[in-house]
Amino acid sequence: MSRHFYSDLQFELPETRPLVACNMVMSLDGKVTSGGALQPGSIGSAFDLQTMQVIRSHFDAVLSGGNTVRQHPYYLGVSAELEHARKERGLASQPLSVVLTRSGSLNPGTPLFKNPPRPPIVLTGAAGAASFAPEIKAKAAVDIMEELSPSSICQLLFQKYGVRRLLVEGGPSVNYQFMQAQLLDELFLTLAPTLVGLRTDLTLAMGSEVLAKPREAELVSLNQHGQELFLRYRFRWSL
Ligand SMILES: NC(=O)c1ccc[n+]([C@@H]2O[C@H](COP(=O)([O-])OP(=O)(O)OC[C@H]3O[C@@H](n4cnc5c(N)ncnc54)[C@H](OP(=O)(O)O)[C@@H]3O)[C@@H](O)[C@H]2O)c1
Repeated sequence: MSRHFYSDLQFELPETRPLVACNMVMSLDGKVTSGGALQPGSIGSAFDLQTMQVIRSHFDAVLSGGNTVRQHPYYLGVSAELEHARKERGLASQPLSVVLTRSGSLNPGTPLFKNPPRPPIVLTGAAGAASFAPEIKAKAAVDIMEELSPSSICQLLFQKYGVRRLLVEGGPSVNYQFMQAQLLDELFLTLAPTLVGLRTDLTLAMGSEVLAKPREAELVSLNQHGQELFLRYRFRWSL
């Protein structure tokens, strides 16, 4: 892959928890799904999909929520050509792929579990663990957590798996929780030149309360490729 504007990313790593970033693609009218889902090409371009992999290439772990994983049941990894760049940065050749689920409703027959480059990590509670298909436990590292808050998730990934950089790839309900907990350090946002318009489609972060305003939201970089814009924001919260 030729040089990408995100090939060299510098992060300010916290000392006691992972740095948390989120990457999403959004339409001009603020939607992250189109007709109830995100299919390749429905909002972002092929270049945006490449960009997603370049961003992943800087992270120790990539996390998604159960709904996103049920729609896209693939390992959240990088292409073979990005493995080399990861190794040069001192990272494992593939990031850890982390799934968050309360229900435990995951299909062990999907590519995420059938042939992953590393065993995926599944974070769940007692109810989820009780309802897993038996093959999930054989194919994934399952962590049964008493509390499934963003801060406990960060602590577990930091302490047990050595995750220093965590990339959250949605969906909106997971993004919201990390924002509400004021744990989101960075946002990579692709603004795609398309309109969705359907009232029921989702936006970047969706929860039950208005989020606190970050103390600071710094626009770190703004790149254009074709008609798409690639924004990188850094947040500082009052906590
Ligand atoms: N435009 C983009 O860049 C982008 C990126 C990602 C996703 N998406 C789209 O977003 C949509 C899904 O978003 P969504 O908000 O409906 O769902 P989501 O955030 O992907 O997943 C929500 C699910 O994650 C699990 N979960 C959430 N918080 C949890 C916690 N604290 N502990 C344990 N499990 C937790 C639960 O799974 P269980 O139901 O299994 O209990 C919950 O139902 C999809 O259509 C996807 O394509 C778009």
